[in-house]
Amino acid sequence: MEKREQYSSHRRVRANRHIRELTADVVLSHRDFIQPLFLDQSLKTRTPLANLNEVNAETPDSLMDQIKQDMGRGISKFLIFPVPQQKAASGFDFTFFTKGLERIRAEFGSGVWIAADVCLCAYTDHGHCGILSKDGTRVLNKETVEELSKYSLALAKAGADCIAPSDMMDGRVAAIRQSLDQASLDHVALMSYSAKFSSQFYGPFRDACKSSPGSNPVLKDRKTYQASAFSSTDGIASAIRDSEEGADIVMVKPALPYLDVLTKLKTQIQKPLAAYHVSGEYQSLELLASQGIAERSKAHVEVWTSLKRAGASIVISYASRHAKKWIDEIDY
Ligand code: PBG
Repeated sequence: MEKREQYSSHRRVRANRHIRELTADVVLSHRDFIQPLFLDQSLKTRTPLANLNEVNAETPDSLMDQIKQDMGRGISKFLIFPVPQQKAASGFDFTFFTKGLERIRAEFGSGVWIAADVCLCAYTDHGHCGILSKDGTRVLNKETVEELSKYSLALAKAGADCIAPSDMMDGRVAAIRQSLDQASLDHVALMSYSAKFSSQFYGPFRDACKSSPGSNPVLKDRKTYQASAFSSTDGIASAIRDSEEGADIVMVKPALPYLDVLTKLKTQIQKPLAAYHVSGEYQSLELLASQGIAERSKAHVEVWTSLKRAGASIVISYASRHAKKWIDEIDY
């Protein structure tokens, strides 16, 4: 008798949509998503970001409109990035951002959850995430952390629910926690960009924030403070350190190249993990979709699923505002 391959369990559970739905064990929900937004002080009207498809830089007015629209699509958590008009080397003015936060709070109350990004890169004239030494060869840790703590305090007072430091200086989580607690802002959460790697995938974001350090004569990149892709312990140790310093949520960023880090942290840290599918990762899918090489919504959903499998509780994506619709439409 001719020997024939029989179906086994593997193919039986893939046989049709119904059984695929029943056996799926990765569950996505739009409730787990945070939408990043850019608030740009130099704009008169909402402006599309050239390298970030369908994402805009907002004015204070258009920001309110965007939040309202996003709430209508089931998103209530936001991560806000300020883009100040004035760049400086020190003595930064944060009032543009604090006013924006106060306005969001006044308009939407407790209907939204607002995480405020905390970093100096959009404020500095050299694009680095901190204050530079006089000779421009080093980002000063202590001076930067002092400034970040002041900044965080102002943002928390203005109504931020969460402070999200993305600078990668040493000791900033403990310093920020302490300054919030001393000001009776101990209810304000800290989501720290902990395993944040020096990466090629931040390009569109730096265009949006006008924060590229690339034109500096000496320090042209962020390798002296962001974690190294070439070290298997760097990002993990930074995240554990941040957790011990008091971070409530720990983040891995970028997402796809660092899924191993996410999975390892899942077993090492008993705190919620966030995965940030960053601007260049987002845009790479948008470019594939624009060429007809991938289906936009399905490509994003597939990536989100991988972040969940790897251990993320929270997903930060520029396409978060589509999550509810796209998840509902999943073709199992
Ligand atoms: C730095 C910061 C970066 C991002 C958010 N905050 C990276 C960087 O410029 O080094 C990246 C976010 C993205 O690419 O979507 N403060």
